[in-house]
Amino acid sequence: MSGEEAAAPPAPAEQAPPAEPQYRALVLSGYGGYEKVKVQVRRGEPSPRPGEVAVRVRACGLNFADLLARQGLYDRLPPPPVSPGMECAGTVQALGEGVTGRQVGDKVMVLARAGLWQEVVTVPASQTFPMPDGMSFEEAAAFPVNYITAYMILFDFGNLRPNQSILIHMAAGGVGTAVVQLCQTVENVTIFGTASASKHEALRESGVTHPIDYRTMDYVEEVRKISPKGVDIVLDPLGGSDTSKGFNLLKPMGKLVTYGVSNMVTGQKKNLMAMAKTWWNQFSINALQLLHLNKAVCGYNLSYLEEEPELLKGVMAKLVSLYGQGKIKPKIDSVWPFEQVADAMRQMQEKKNVGKVILVPELPKEEAKKEEN
Ligand SMILES: NC(=O)c1ccc[n+]([C@@H]2O[C@H](COP(=O)([O-])OP(=O)(O)OC[C@H]3O[C@@H](n4cnc5c(N)ncnc54)[C@H](OP(=O)(O)O)[C@@H]3O)[C@@H](O)[C@H]2O)c1
Repeated sequence: MSGEEAAAPPAPAEQAPPAEPQYRALVLSGYGGYEKVKVQVRRGEPSPRPGEVAVRVRACGLNFADLLARQGLYDRLPPPPVSPGMECAGTVQALGEGVTGRQVGDKVMVLARAGLWQEVVTVPASQTFPMPDGMSFEEAAAFPVNYITAYMILFDFGNLRPNQSILIHMAAGGVGTAVVQLCQTVENVTIFGTASASKHEALRESGVTHPIDYRTMDYVEEVRKISPKGVDIVLDPLGGSDTSKGFNLLKPMGKLVTYGVSNMVTGQKKNLMAMAKTWWNQFSINALQLLHLNKAVCGYNLSYLEEEPELLKGVMAKLVSLYGQGKIKPKIDSVWPFEQVADAMRQMQEKKNVGKVILVPELPKEEAKKEEN
């Protein structure tokens, strides 16, 4: 055997092990200011359990409840560290055992109590809703929370009918915009809407009959100047003393729907004074008083309806039909990449948004270019 023959064969070129999949998630690391929500890279790929689907997320909705949650004021969010996010839109990328009615590649809207601000999510298939034709991912991420809430408070509780009048607070925000659009589906509704003065032109364009700048005017006086007897429906997302003001503005047979406590939020961090004031001024009434006054008070909270998928499915079907008829369309205020989640939250908390604030894992290419310039 020659020396050459005896040489060991060359070692095969070392092959790099296949890269482990990764995905990014926004995570609330603790209660506090904007900096508490961070981008985290997670290893692996979530796979759906029986009855679940995995969705590749393209856009997520920011809701006022996310601001409350960051401050530790929203009891429906599990304690940190946790990924927030109650709604998103994307494409189904895997099906768990036993899932019917969804296919890989379907475009869906997703609703959940938390956990949707991630590039990939796994959720029960019953919490996904097919996106209608022509709807963008941004619109789809702006749809479930705002429009289901708006529909149920306006029609199921408020029972809005032709020729009635309504007071809508935060009228230029996500829910407010949806309510204003849904009011247009009923004949001759007079809409009083409160919002910062800079948003009044947008409010008029969207159909608000009487925009009111609650920051410089007494909205109760302003409503009474135009409608001395008050209004048929008050939608109250504010809480505290505003709930009593709303109730007192109701005509006989009027309905107050309370669905938020925005007055508790005054800045980036929890404000104990504002919380105490809101609690102290809580509206309270007994059955006998209601009976004498001929008025109704309703409380609404979407997150407690998660056990009622059929109810939500029915509302979504009506909303998708209205979207298809061109009667409602989400108004997008702004779109922010995950890395700018602090700016997105600031946009809402500093009262700058008109319509919905959207988060995306990555900006679409043209948007990214605009940012660079
Ligand atoms: N119960 C439920 O199931 C449910 C579901 C969805 C939403 N909600 C409630 O509905 C309300 C609207 O929610 P959204 O997500 O659509 O938010 P949004 O209306 O888009 O919220 C931002 C806007 O609210 C106004 N605002 C009033 N008080 C504020 C405060 N203390 N801090 C910051 N902004 C304030 C600001 O506009 P202007 O000052 O110009 O008006 C701001 O631009 C919130 O109270 C939310 O909790 C409840």
